[in-house]
Amino acid sequence: MSDKLHPVPDEWKSRAHVDRAKYEADYKRSIDDPEGYWGEVGKRLDWIKPYTKVKNTSFAPGNISIKWFEDGSLNVAANCIDRHLETRGDQTAIIWEGDDPKDSKHITYRELHENVCRLANVLKDRGVKKGDRVTLYLPMIPEAAYSMLACARIGAIHSIVFGGFSPDSLANRIEGCESRVVITADEGLRGGKKVPLKKNTDDAIARVGGEVDTVIVVTRTGGDVPMTDGRDVRYEDAVAAASADCPPEEMNAEDPLFILFTSGSTGKPKGVLHTTGGYLVYASLTHELIFDYHDGDIYWCTADVGWVTGHSYIVYGPLANGATTLMFEGVPNYPSISRFWDVVDKHKVNIFYTAPTAIRSLMGAGEEPVKRTSRQSLRLLGSVGEPINPEAWEWYFNVVGERRCPIVDTWWQTETGGILITPLPGAIDLKPGSATLPFFGVQPQLVDAEGNVIEGAADGNLCIVDSWPGQMRTVYGDHKRFEETYFSTYKNKYFTGDGCRRDEDGYYWITGRVDDVINVSGHRMGTAEVESSLVAHEKVAEAAVVGYPHDLKGQGIYAYVTLNAGVEGTDELKKELVAWVRKDIGPIASPDLIQFAPGLPKTRSGKIMRRILRKIAEDDFGALGDTSTLADPAVVDDLIDHRQNRK
Ligand code: WT7
Repeated sequence: MSDKLHPVPDEWKSRAHVDRAKYEADYKRSIDDPEGYWGEVGKRLDWIKPYTKVKNTSFAPGNISIKWFEDGSLNVAANCIDRHLETRGDQTAIIWEGDDPKDSKHITYRELHENVCRLANVLKDRGVKKGDRVTLYLPMIPEAAYSMLACARIGAIHSIVFGGFSPDSLANRIEGCESRVVITADEGLRGGKKVPLKKNTDDAIARVGGEVDTVIVVTRTGGDVPMTDGRDVRYEDAVAAASADCPPEEMNAEDPLFILFTSGSTGKPKGVLHTTGGYLVYASLTHELIFDYHDGDIYWCTADVGWVTGHSYIVYGPLANGATTLMFEGVPNYPSISRFWDVVDKHKVNIFYTAPTAIRSLMGAGEEPVKRTSRQSLRLLGSVGEPINPEAWEWYFNVVGERRCPIVDTWWQTETGGILITPLPGAIDLKPGSATLPFFGVQPQLVDAEGNVIEGAADGNLCIVDSWPGQMRTVYGDHKRFEETYFSTYKNKYFTGDGCRRDEDGYYWITGRVDDVINVSGHRMGTAEVESSLVAHEKVAEAAVVGYPHDLKGQGIYAYVTLNAGVEGTDELKKELVAWVRKDIGPIASPDLIQFAPGLPKTRSGKIMRRILRKIAEDDFGALGDTSTLADPAVVDDLIDHRQNRK
């Protein structure tokens, strides 16, 4: 880790919404008087019925309850669209940049309004009502944003499933929230390759049974896809026939807005539930202050709407602020490794937000593909998804931003709804690799394994002691799991699952997950999910999966596999198992390394000792620690002898 300091230059100070003095004053107020602070901030939205109560939250064991602005009502789509029409009807809301550089278009706020209203009416015609769940399985096309906002407009709860997930994963998520309606496309297009979204949807629905009665299919590639009579609807035909008038539904601040399934350390992915008022207040405020958004700026977040980053910082935060947000369908290296910077130049992007994994892979191709572009429009750079190593940070800062652009390293999670720890560009001196300091209203705390609070410069487990408006409210349909997952490890606080160091200046350095979750290229994967996929293969008896440091992905997936008696562990079989997991969960879950293991290190009570497996996967077996409680210490020697990650 680097402790190099980049002080805030005067230029950033004078431009930014928040300077150091304001950061300190507002931070203090937000902690001492959250009601007063958030009560004022909440007014940035248009409320149908103004709230009189601001905060009503409890992290107490047995009574986890989170409510913000609970007696207010509003509509998210009206806040993201309608209220801007008078002043910015002709302003571009969404710049869409297709996979092919020849494909792009601008959608104004007025056009966005019409598209959303028409689709909302299509959903209503198909019987979708307030509170119903709608699954979206879409590529990065404007219709993805229309679909989110159409749901929000009529009070339906959307659940987006990333287009890279398999039919099985899609089926689990459709079932997990009992949705009757799926919006998809014929095929997606990424890096010139087609993704069979409609086919995957058909396969998923076949697995779910008869509950899905409507599939709305956007034409993206025009590929020939079979349509099921009565169930499948062509998006273009349906919206053309629908009315462009659809009054927004009045929603209570605590009515659900969306569900997003995310992986945890155990069991199936859980449905993280976010609600209406607090979520939008938080997404909109953080977007404005952290990215220092000013009227007229062109803002680009390269995430996919299948992840929370796309929800909060492509769609809801920016549109609530009347921003111009760029949506990118493609990948960083198609048609060339300069694509990001070509897009920046083409659309004169001012604010650019991406993931360390992308930066590292571009860094590998050297400076020339960056330097052949101008990037003069860039003013601020952002990073999200995983710790950014100082080398990648410096490259991003020096080469991409030409030392002109502050980097905001934003730490947050699907569960937090918005950014919690981050620099504010005009206020906080930067340290490469550190997410720096908490945002307004956020109180981080470090605790040791026993739950003792650690003060000062130290390493610990990262908790947040009080609620903020963007916090998830529950696990959909399973409030008990919500409490167990986040509030039972340490009483009276939210446990993030992350390890963290705080330095002498009070800066936070996220060190990675301390639970059985791996972060692959900024995407979260539960080791338990990969293990259950592997053991479902007929030749596998047992599997244990851990993360290991990976140059490009941050973490790679390392699988120890015990085969059934008599099965030979060949390279062919390794390939078969990788393909199996890929097909079962999706490409992001593909194991990077597989080691066939005659036995796994277990305690006498049969518990797999993952600590040992992690060390061997890291090629750090000199430091195995205490192995005396193992049932059969000899298995460790065999694992070391056959380790796959030799440096
Ligand atoms: C996990 C959450 C939040 C959007 C993307 C991921 C890791 C996220 C950072 C960062 C270090 C980070 C954490 C966190 N993470 N941002 N700036 N520095 N680590 O959302 O899939 O919910 O994953 O991503 O480990 O717990 P997610």
